[in-house]
Amino acid sequence: MKKKRILTGDRPTGRLHIGHYFGSLQKRLELQENEEYDPYILIADVQALTDNFDNPEKVRKNVREVAIDYLSVGIDPNKTTIYIQSMIPEAFELTMFYSNFVTISRLQRNPTVKTEIEQKKEIFGESVTYGFLGYPVSQAADITCFEGALVPVGEDQLPLIEQCREIVRKFNSVYGDILTEPQAVLSSTKRIKGLDGNDKMGKSLGNAIYLSDSEEEVTKKVMSATTDPNRIKKDDLGNPDICMVSYYHNLFTDKAECENICRECREGKRGCVYCKKQLAENINKVLEPIREKRAYYEAHPEIVDNILKEGTERARKSAKETMKKIKEAMMLNYFE
Ligand code: TRP
Ligand code: SF4
Repeated sequence: MKKKRILTGDRPTGRLHIGHYFGSLQKRLELQENEEYDPYILIADVQALTDNFDNPEKVRKNVREVAIDYLSVGIDPNKTTIYIQSMIPEAFELTMFYSNFVTISRLQRNPTVKTEIEQKKEIFGESVTYGFLGYPVSQAADITCFEGALVPVGEDQLPLIEQCREIVRKFNSVYGDILTEPQAVLSSTKRIKGLDGNDKMGKSLGNAIYLSDSEEEVTKKVMSATTDPNRIKKDDLGNPDICMVSYYHNLFTDKAECENICRECREGKRGCVYCKKQLAENINKVLEPIREKRAYYEAHPEIVDNILKEGTERARKSAKETMKKIKEAMMLNYFE
C-alpha cells in the first residue's frame, strides 16, 4: 500500500515554543509513528520572506534553529522528511502556473490572508505586496507538488486548503485530471495561551517559553506569569481558574497534584511564589532532555545540514516527478 504523504510546515521566523510543542510538534511525533503515513515537514523560508524580505539574516538563522527544534523534540529524519522550501524550484514554477487560476479578489477575500494583512499593517501599510497576497498560491504549489497530500491544519488555516483545492479543480478542468486535491485534516490540537493570559503564545507578544530557553530563563519567565490579581497574601483565597500558573500546571504537572494545587489555592493554603517554583521545576524536567539534544546538534551543525540536505533531495525527487506530468499536460515539455 502506498503511504499517504502528510504535509506540515512552519515559517522560520523564530524558535519554537511550548505552544508549538503541545500543538503541532506532538501531532507530528504521533504521525511519524503511524505506518500509513509518509510525513513531510517543510521549513517555509520563502513564505517567511514574504513579510521579512528586508531581514534575510533572520530567516536564514531560523531555518537551522527550527530544524534543531524538530530534531530535539524527537522528529526522526529516518521517518520524517524535513526539507527547505526554497530548494524546491518546481514549487515556484508551479506557483507561476497556478497564478492563472486564482483572482486577486479571491485572494483578498481569503479569511486567513485578510486577518494577517490586518495584523501586519505596520509592515504593509494600506497596500500589501504581490508576494504576500499570493502566498496561498505558493502554498498550494508546496502541497500539490507532492501528490495526494494530507494537510493537518488548525481551523485558522482551513481557508488556505480550500483555496488550494479550488486551484486544483480549475487547473484540472483545463489540463485534464492531473493534480490530486489535497485533504485537510482538522487537528484538534489546542492553542496554548501566553504567560500573560493572551490567547496566543508568540514571539511578538513576549509571552512565550521557548524549547531552547535555559533553566534560569524558564524560572524567570514563570515568576512573571499572570496569577489571580486579587491574591496578595498567602492566606487570601485564590481562584486558580484565572491564573496562568495553574493553567500551565495542567500541562506539566500530574493530575492528582493539580487537584491539590487548586484546592490549596482556593483555601488560601498555598503561596504563589512556591507554586511558581514548583511549576518552573516541572517545565524544566520536560525541557531538560530537549535541551540536551539541542546542545548536541548545536555542537554538530554538519549533522543538521546533512539531514536538511538529504530531506530536501528526497522531496525534490518527488516534486520533479509531479512536475513532469504537469508540464506534459500544459504542453511545456519541449525537446523531450
Ligand atoms: N503556512 C504555514 C505557516 O504559516 C507554512 C506552510 C507553507 C505550510 N507551506 C505549507 C504548511 C504547506 C503546510 C503545507 O506556518
Ligand atoms: Fe495561581 Fe498557584 Fe497563586 Fe493559586 S497559588 S493564584 S494557582 S500561582
